[in-house]
Amino acid sequence: MPATHQIVDVDLGDRCYPVVVGAGARHELASVLPGSPRRVAVVTQAGVGIPVDPGVEHQLFTIGDGEQAKTMATVERLCSQWARWGLTRNDAVVAVGGGIVTDVAGFSASIYHRGVSVVYVSTTLLGLIDASVGGKTAVNLPEGKNLVGTFWQPSAVLCDTESLATLPAREWRCGYGEMAKYEFLGAAELGQLPLEDQIVRCIQLKADIVAEDERESGRRAVLNYGHTLAHALEISERFDLRHGEAVAIGLVYAAEVAERLGRISKARVGEHRAAVAHYDLLDRLPPGADTEVLIDLFSHDKKAVDGLTFVLDGPNGVEPVRLDDTGVLRDALEAIR
Ligand code: GLY
Repeated sequence: MPATHQIVDVDLGDRCYPVVVGAGARHELASVLPGSPRRVAVVTQAGVGIPVDPGVEHQLFTIGDGEQAKTMATVERLCSQWARWGLTRNDAVVAVGGGIVTDVAGFSASIYHRGVSVVYVSTTLLGLIDASVGGKTAVNLPEGKNLVGTFWQPSAVLCDTESLATLPAREWRCGYGEMAKYEFLGAAELGQLPLEDQIVRCIQLKADIVAEDERESGRRAVLNYGHTLAHALEISERFDLRHGEAVAIGLVYAAEVAERLGRISKARVGEHRAAVAHYDLLDRLPPGADTEVLIDLFSHDKKAVDGLTFVLDGPNGVEPVRLDDTGVLRDALEAIR
């Protein structure tokens, strides 16, 4: 492995895996494939255009673009194509792309032949710092985002920073929304670091949290900071907002809620607004966002296991908090209009 690559291990005992970060990291693919697969199914999207060489017989399987591709129908089609091609349980899947590709390919790999190995070659900032690490896979149902999925850890993740060269501005912002989140999960210095160190720091934080709580029975919930409002805005589908853009608004909203509950100071709310502004992201609701629709959607969030639970900043840092008073939620929505 070139000395220029940085490696973060996701320490899950005998399922420990490396996340390799650096320019050209995708060229390590053959060396990180688990076992001795005869065949590798490479899953990607038409627009990704990042060639990979697993060093064994392989075939390209292309899925569609956007959230519309994250469906059970796509999973069924992929699995049928793999079966017709002759992919066995000893072979492997390689997903090349952003979060949509890794979510769909990871979920399909987790159920095909009751589970085949998967390696991710992550090509977007959002994928590098969040989606590809931690083993969550999912597809959407008409009833909601990510409602069907598995925990299925990859065997390795290759974060090739070269693939960021062609990333559209909107995709950058999408990744930066998640990066702003990590500033409140223990990496306050992120905004001052060079890009590759930012990526490694975010991955390190996520790897530590996942190693402690793989199945989100506790601490992993903090990774959903800013996500309750973000998911509500995304589910309502009335706004032209990408995930990271929605998370940025959700972070500021969560801070406004926490301040109203006496958990943080106004100055700390200001730090949230400044972090979001630093990454050129908006900190207010899109025009036309309806308070009652959003409050109703909060209770449909799949993280809402017992009434309304928000992940909020406070004296002990970011943690899940049970909320009974929706007046605070309404009031805080007004503060971000
Ligand atoms: N993206 C949140 C998590 O992986 O837990």
